[in-house]
Amino acid sequence: MADDTTAAAPLAGDPIAGDGTTPKIAVIDVWKSFAGKEVLRGIDLEVTTGESLVIVGGSGAGKSVLLKHLIGLIQPDRGHIVVDGEDLTCAEPAVCLAMRKKFGMSFQEGALFDSMSVFENVAFALRRHTRMREDEIAARVHECLAMVHLEDVDAKMPGQLSGGMRRRVGFARAIALQPEILLFDEPNTGLDPITSAAIDKVIVEMRDSLPVTMVTITHDMSSAFRIADRVAMLREGRILAVAPPEQFRVLPDQYIQKFLAGEPLEEEEVA
Ligand SMILES: Nc1ncnc2c1ncn2[C@@H]1O[C@H](COP(=O)(O)OP(=O)(O)OP(=O)(O)O)[C@@H](O)[C@H]1O
Ligand SMILES: [Mg+2]
Repeated sequence: MADDTTAAAPLAGDPIAGDGTTPKIAVIDVWKSFAGKEVLRGIDLEVTTGESLVIVGGSGAGKSVLLKHLIGLIQPDRGHIVVDGEDLTCAEPAVCLAMRKKFGMSFQEGALFDSMSVFENVAFALRRHTRMREDEIAARVHECLAMVHLEDVDAKMPGQLSGGMRRRVGFARAIALQPEILLFDEPNTGLDPITSAAIDKVIVEMRDSLPVTMVTITHDMSSAFRIADRVAMLREGRILAVAPPEQFRVLPDQYIQKFLAGEPLEEEEVA
C-alpha cells in the first residue's frame, strides 16, 4: 500500500465554491459496480484548468469507465462529478448537455465513421452542432487536420489510412468544436513505438497550443511521462497516487515500481 506521502492529494477546498481555485473537474468519492462487481471504489481526483493529467493502471482497472463518468456517459452509483463547479450527477438535462459540449473525446481505437471520408468525419460535429457555412466548415476542418499534421487526406476513407493517421483524424474530430476539455482513451494502443511517439508529440503540441484541459488514459508509461503534467495511478477502483512525472517515477510504492518496470506481480498483489 502507498504510505501517506504517495496517497492521492486530498481535495483542496470546496470544489463547488467557485472561489478561484475551483478545479476544472472534480471527481468526488465516485463508486460504480456492474452486475455486483465493484469497478470504481471511491475515486477522488481533481483536474486543474489547463493541465494534462494522465491516468494509468492495469487492464480492466476501470480507466475507461472512469473517463466515461467524466463526460456523463456513465452515471456513478454514488459520488459526484463536478465540472467548472457544476455537479453533473444532479444537473438538469439541459445543463448536462451544455456541460457535455465542453468535452472533446477520442475513444479507444479511434472510433471513426468508416463509411465517411476524413473530411466528413471531422466536419460531422460542426454540421450537427453549429450553423457554420460550408466554407467555414471547410476552413475549420483544414485547421484541425493541420493541427494534427494531416494534409491532403480529405477524400480518403478511414480504411485507407494507417493506424497512426486514423488516431490523428480522431484527434482532429475531437478538437473541431473547440472543446475546453479533451479526453483521450488509449491514444497509443496498437501503434509501433515510433508512431506512438509521434502521436504523443501531437498531443503535447495540442496541450501547449490550445486552451484545453486534458485527461488521457494509457497503460504505456513512456507515453504517460511524455504527455503528463501529473500522472494518476488507478488500482483496485481507487486512485493510488497522483504526482508529476519526475516524482511519480520514484514513488516508494511496490505496485507502482513493478508497473514502471513491467515486472509481474506476486499472486497476492493481483487485483
Ligand atoms: N458497460 C459495462 N457493463 C458491464 N461491465 C463493464 C462495463 N464497462 C466496463 N465494465 C467492466 O468494468 C471493468 C473495467 O473496465 P474498463 O473498460 O474501464 O477497464 P480499463 O481499465 O479501461 O481496461 P483496458 O486497459 O483493458 O482498456 C472491466 O471488468 C469491465 O468488464
Ligand atoms: Mg480501457
